[in-house]
Parts: sequence; structure tokens; C-alpha cells
Amino acid sequence: MHHFLPNGQSLVIRLPELDEAAALMHCLQQMTRESDFLLHTPEEALGMDIPGERAFIKSFRDQPNHLLLVAVVDGFIVGYLTVTQGRFYKQAHTGEMGIAILRNYWNLGIGRRLMTAMVRWAEDHPLLELIYFQVFAHNEKAIQLYRNFDFQECGRLPGGIRQKDGRRIDLVTMCRRVKQLS
Ligand SMILES: CC(C)(COP(=O)(O)OP(=O)(O)OC[C@H]1O[C@@H](n2cnc3c(N)ncnc32)[C@H](O)[C@@H]1OP(=O)(O)O)[C@@H](O)C(=O)NCCC(=O)NCCS
Repeated sequence: MHHFLPNGQSLVIRLPELDEAAALMHCLQQMTRESDFLLHTPEEALGMDIPGERAFIKSFRDQPNHLLLVAVVDGFIVGYLTVTQGRFYKQAHTGEMGIAILRNYWNLGIGRRLMTAMVRWAEDHPLLELIYFQVFAHNEKAIQLYRNFDFQECGRLPGGIRQKDGRRIDLVTMCRRVKQLS
């Protein structure tokens, strides 16, 4: 899907190619340095490597029940979104989502476009009924983005996150039904 950002740059939302493993890895590593709202620390992200990232992309390409989208601005990967379908039969109707964008590209509507593409994909998915994820309770902007897409808080793990400075932060679970039960 091709769009234009408010600053005129071109944005494409699409599946990544296998030969974009290095670009995706560098993007993910940079995100962990720029935002404390992600699970990986920058040090943990340094443990990523190109073969591993290639295998990660391949696992999504081979398995169309999962979704890995990248946001590409003027040829550079600046964000991604994943949905991983529940592995076992009893959870195969659920998908866990993740999303992140490089700081320089926040507030340009890229998150909204990734979410729009994800919801369309999930609504067409043969099995998925429920999309969910966990978000740090003080990540107000992300929570607002999710509310804009009708996600609702459905649980909270008090102190579920321990930041490096020792702070404990609640983890909020949010979910949205993408198909009505028949
Ligand atoms: C959260 C994130 C994905 C949002 O992406 P984005 O491209 O900046 O989002 P958008 O520009 O599409 O804006 C999304 C909405 O945020 C809301 N928003 C923007 N700034 C806000 C603020 N300071 N407070 C509350 N809401 C805010 C707006 O409602 C906006 O929607 P609208 O302009 O269409 O009304 C991005 O900031 C990010 O990657 N953050 C770091 C990683 C992260 O937190 N990931 C989520 C983990 S659960």
C-alpha cells in the first residue's frame, strides 16, 4: 500500500523481503535505543544477527497465518508490525500484535496506517477472532492509538515491567474482536 506522509515523503506498507534482514535488524536495534516502551533492552537487541533476522522474516513469509509488515519511507525500513497467531488449537483464534516505529518518524500517521492494514488483514483471516497485546501502562500515545482502533483494556499485570532504574510499571493487556461469534 502506497501513501504520502504530511512532509511529502513516500510511505509503503508491505511484507519484507528476505534480503532486508540487515535493514530490519538495524531498525529494531535502533528502536530499543530510542524507546523504553519496548521489551528488549538495547544490549539484548545487540544479540540479534542477520541469519536470525532472515529466519524471522522467512518464518512469517512461510506462514501466512502470521503477519509481518514493514513501513518503508523513501526506501528505508522505519517501522514494523507483527501479529502471531496462537500456536495451539485452543488459541488459534487469537493473535498477538507488536508494533514500533523509529523516533524520527513518530506522529506522521505511520502507526495508524500499519494498524489499518493489520485490521483489514485480521478481518480477512480465516481463523482470527481476537487480537491482543500488552502495553506499558504509561505509554499514553500507543494506548491512544489502540483506542482509536477500538482496542480496549482487558487486564493489567501490576508491576509487570522492571525498568533498568528499578521502576516497576504495570503491563496493560488490550484486545479487540475482529469477527463476531456466530
Ligand atoms: C506508539 C507508536 C507505534 C505510534 O506510532 P506513530 O506513527 O507515532 O502514530 P501516529 O502518528 O499514527 O499517531 C497515532 C495516534 O497517537 C495519538 N497521539 C499522538 N501523540 C500523542 C500524545 N502525546 N498523547 C496521547 N496520544 C497521542 C493520536 O491520537 C494519534 O492519532 P491521530 O493523530 O490519528 O488522532 C510509536 O510512537 C512507537 O513506535 N513508539 C515506540 C514503541 C512503542 O511504544 N511501541 C508500542 C509498544 S506496545
